[in-house]
Amino acid sequence: MTEPTIEVLFDEESIDARVRAIAAEIATSGLHDPLLVPVLTGSFVFAADLIRALHRVGAPIEVDFIRLRSYGTGTESQGSVKVLCDMDQGVAGRDVLLVDDILDTGLTLSFARDLLYERGARKVSLAVLLDKSARRTHDIQADYVGFDCPNRFVIGYGIDKGFAYRELPYVGAFCER
Ligand code: IMP
Ligand code: MG
Repeated sequence: MTEPTIEVLFDEESIDARVRAIAAEIATSGLHDPLLVPVLTGSFVFAADLIRALHRVGAPIEVDFIRLRSYGTGTESQGSVKVLCDMDQGVAGRDVLLVDDILDTGLTLSFARDLLYERGARKVSLAVLLDKSARRTHDIQADYVGFDCPNRFVIGYGIDKGFAYRELPYVGAFCER
């Protein structure tokens, strides 16, 4: 079988510039006792770069993880969200920055935001690498967006298709044909 051809949508340099710009914005946003929560798994590369960019602009932040599942190994949303692995930290009274790879229909991050507010978070902000705003079915917007993303299935920079392609240092999409 021939390897699929991948079109680069967002290259390493552009991603790096956006991550640094987002970190600078977050650093001046006056978050109180902030906790950064990557929504695993797709966000792990973005989150790893973002926390180091935050360090470089003098904004240290604690990190805890939550693992949610709203997609299987294919490309269709299953319409429900499950907590596969919960956080260790409590969030009562804290400002939480949820970090995800893609804001698509909004199902996952609506669920995560509501969960953290139920647990007493003071404020929940959202940082996403990619915003597929054309696909939104839930009333939710990100506070920090890396790039507006076309309505295509994307891979790379932590984002997978069936567990593959996460290692690509850029975000790409499969070429049609
Ligand atoms: P939402 O709950 O519909 O907003 O979906 C968000 C999640 O769906 C993302 O965090 C991804 O894990 C997954 N997802 C959405 N679009 C894509 C894509 O183009 N490629 C890979 N995963 C995607
Ligand atoms: Mg995800």
